[in-house]
Amino acid sequence: MTNEPNTKRVALVTGATGGLGTAMCKKLYDDGYTVVGSYRSQTKADEWKAQMKAEGYDIELFQADVSDFDSCGRMIAAIEEKVGPVDILVNNAGITRDRAFHKMTKEMWDDVIGTNLTSVFNCSRHVIESMIKRNFGRIINISSVNGQRGQFGQANYSAAKAGMHGFTKTLAMEVAQKGITVNTISPGYIGTDMVMAVKEEIRNQIVAQIPLGRLGGTEEVAHLVSFLASDKASFITGANYAINGGQHVA
Ligand code: CAA
Repeated sequence: MTNEPNTKRVALVTGATGGLGTAMCKKLYDDGYTVVGSYRSQTKADEWKAQMKAEGYDIELFQADVSDFDSCGRMIAAIEEKVGPVDILVNNAGITRDRAFHKMTKEMWDDVIGTNLTSVFNCSRHVIESMIKRNFGRIINISSVNGQRGQFGQANYSAAKAGMHGFTKTLAMEVAQKGITVNTISPGYIGTDMVMAVKEEIRNQIVAQIPLGRLGGTEEVAHLVSFLASDKASFITGANYAINGGQHVA
């Protein structure tokens, strides 16, 4: 492990306890950042922290409902007080409520837009002024192949994930002169619980459409996050990186 003590940048990964979030936290920790994560469910968070500790990762978790502006504000304030200002924000928290549109409820729409898109405004808004003052920041938004191309049963999810692209491009322009980069990553189907929850028959049909013939690995996405967070990526902003095994080439 290459982690060095506390002289370095602070990285916040929202939705840290999920499959992608966990891989991102570990990779950023291995890179030497002070890593903190957000979580929603206490039981899962306790188990996760114990597991991370057992694996040698010292990662603090902070509770927040990322769909709630004030809850995000309280979380960011707590992180600033305990660890320091956030230098790298990975907007990763996301949920699915898949259903054919004619059966989709307003609640399914609101839940997904709130957690997957409004959350990006909420968390970014609470860190941006401090990033501007310090003349450095990285905001990395985790979108999806299904925000680039649509997917049966995901009108809510695709809309939220597509919305991230407009957000990324605009914010990137606004803060480029302040040492802050804003980028989007669009993973395809990765071997997470979220993807494994899709009915096996449907999932197999989806995998059959991926030229590489397999699901992606969570670490493969984490490596891209690591690169975009690094100083090596300082000329990259407003970009979208697809990582989908060739499933969608645009
Ligand atoms: N394509 C075309 N037609 C489909 C279909 C599909 N993929 N899925 C279902 N249908 C048809 C059904 O055959 C059915 O037709 P009839 O009414 O004529 O019988 C009709 O649509 C309605 O089907 P259901 O009653 O099963 O629809 P539903 O609303 O209950 O839900 C679904 C269907 C669960 C959304 C299913 O389509 C599905 O699981 N789709 C995949 C969703 C998906 O890929 N989710 C990704 C989750 S992971 C993730 O999001 C991570 C990431 O970023 C990639």
